[in-house]
Amino acid sequence: MRPEGCGRQRVILVTGGGGLIGGALVARLRSEGREVWAPCRSKRNSAGFDLDQPDDGTFPEPIQTAFLCAWRGGVVEAAQDEEVTWRTNVEGNLALIKRLREQNVKMVFLSTSLVFAGGETSAHSPLSPCCRYAEQKAVVESALDPHRDVIVRITKVGETLLPRLRQWAVSLRAGGSIAAARGLRLAPVLLDEAVDGLAGIARDHLPGIYQMSARRDHSYFYLAASLSSVVGGVVADDPDAGKAVFRPIPVSGRLTICSPAGSSSWPTGEDRAQLLVERALS
Ligand SMILES: NC(=O)c1ccc[n+]([C@@H]2O[C@H](COP(=O)([O-])OP(=O)(O)OC[C@H]3O[C@@H](n4cnc5c(N)ncnc54)[C@H](OP(=O)(O)O)[C@@H]3O)[C@@H](O)[C@H]2O)c1
Repeated sequence: MRPEGCGRQRVILVTGGGGLIGGALVARLRSEGREVWAPCRSKRNSAGFDLDQPDDGTFPEPIQTAFLCAWRGGVVEAAQDEEVTWRTNVEGNLALIKRLREQNVKMVFLSTSLVFAGGETSAHSPLSPCCRYAEQKAVVESALDPHRDVIVRITKVGETLLPRLRQWAVSLRAGGSIAAARGLRLAPVLLDEAVDGLAGIARDHLPGIYQMSARRDHSYFYLAASLSSVVGGVVADDPDAGKAVFRPIPVSGRLTICSPAGSSSWPTGEDRAQLLVERALS
């Protein structure tokens, strides 16, 4: 039986459609007139989808493309609870990939720059995951076929930094001091830019491995110092940051940008650090 709301147009499945990237992607695709199925966990018994029960539930047909955005937790959660996150993220996604492969669905998987610990970050460089989260991503990547599927590695969505930047700004404004790592680097892209690129993939579906990143990276210390230059306060280095989760600490926060051939909607690599600082202060 066809789940409600799915007509004859070929459907785009977005898992994790209630999350940051998945939610913005669903909104964009619908605004472009695409038919999207974005099942949430809570509706698992009717037309929902849960990575912890990946063989349950009915999929609408025909699914044309599936964006695999569902994922439990990030770097910290994977380090703290390896077993549970592995089950959801690796076993759940591998089972889903098998199901979708049987239906000949084109897949798009969202991965991370953290699959590289060193400075060599071109799309086809050998992977060297630097944390449990990235190890999980690497295993799921290996189940995909870059000749049929799409792997999109993203550095960091800049908006995820805003709560931390705002908290730092509050402490700095109060005349306090904060600690931020010189040794941890990041090269964020904005959510809209990431969604532009993914929506382009939904249109063209050129298989391959693609990478979204700013062209240069900054340290967390640099971001904190930029805030401090406006609001005052003192910034110190945090030499131990990341040591509990990264082994080793990644050398680079950026990726060598790699976009689908002919894409005009891929992030250009423009530096967004200052913009994020301004947004945090506005
Ligand atoms: N944000 C970034 O900076 C960034 C950078 C690189 C890569 N990525 C990757 O991009 C993807 C999307 O990231 P995001 O920032 O949008 O993450 P997010 O906001 O945390 O969203 C994750 C989504 O996964 C869903 N989910 C979690 N466990 C699930 C399960 N057992 N079954 C079904 N759905 C489940 C969540 O559903 P609930 O709402 O029900 O919890 C949520 O909708 C992730 O794979 C992430 O690793 C993100």
